[in-house]
Amino acid sequence: MNKDLVTIYELEDADVADLLALAKDVKANPANYRTALSGQTLAMIFEKSSTRTRVSFEVGIHQLGGTGLFLSSRDIQLGRGEPLSDTAAVLSRMVDGIMARTFSHQSVEDLARFGTVPVINGLTDFNHPCQALADLQTVQERFGDLAGLKMAYVGDGNNVAHSLMMACARVGMAFACASPEGYRMDADYVAKARALGATVVETASPAEAVAGAHVVYTDVWASMGQEAEQKKREAAFVGFQVDQALMEKADPKAIFMHCLPAHRGEEVSAEVCDGPQSVIYDQAENRMHMQKAIMIRLMSR
Ligand code: CP
Ligand code: NVA
Repeated sequence: MNKDLVTIYELEDADVADLLALAKDVKANPANYRTALSGQTLAMIFEKSSTRTRVSFEVGIHQLGGTGLFLSSRDIQLGRGEPLSDTAAVLSRMVDGIMARTFSHQSVEDLARFGTVPVINGLTDFNHPCQALADLQTVQERFGDLAGLKMAYVGDGNNVAHSLMMACARVGMAFACASPEGYRMDADYVAKARALGATVVETASPAEAVAGAHVVYTDVWASMGQEAEQKKREAAFVGFQVDQALMEKADPKAIFMHCLPAHRGEEVSAEVCDGPQSVIYDQAENRMHMQKAIMIRLMSR
């Protein structure tokens, strides 16, 4: 693997397969990894709120024998304008890895460039690789082989959609994305996924995307930092709610996925979100197992 995990595009197919196998073993045999990162420290920079990412990394590094250091950007000098390059260089003298959740994707790129320790992307406006890797683990638990499966994503062509598309590309899953005009995925990133040989379909029809899908996925209509657009987005996304009628167009064994936090009654009906096809809490749990695998691969020495 590279020094850092900034996006799934920068991983090889074999890295993704290896992380999936390791995460499965970490989940099944946690006791075998209790000293995997003994004495190591992970700095965790957060410019945005988090429940799952913070807790899964902090508990995960603890269970591997190390320590997590929560650094809200409001509290460290970064929030007062200290350059990322200095922050990365200084942290690299004291910690063994950096996880960062930022607004700008460039910020995580810069931390990786200027930091000499591994940097893990804990969500940017452009990508959420840890989420998508953990989601592959959840899909694998339900279906076994990933190659040949179809994931349908209904909603905003955002950070989560980008990483899911690239994750599917790395394991031979087809990816169909239904978004309203103006909310589609980044065209260059779609082209990059297709250049890897991936099947990526973009449509404005949720029914078309979901037809025959094994996984139906959605995310919030207004992401962190877009709160002021909430009303405008609610109008733009009319007809894009994942409800029971839409689920019935998918494969009969289809699962419903959401990275959370969810807004029941907006992007997903409560009936689907809390219904028998939903695997949302497995997804949340697998964040920890997958991130333990990522930390082991990047930080072991
Ligand atoms: N899915 C996810 O990353 O959740 P948090 O924002 O709670 O970390
Ligand atoms: N797209 C959402 C994901 C949250 C985990 C956001 O960026 O807010």
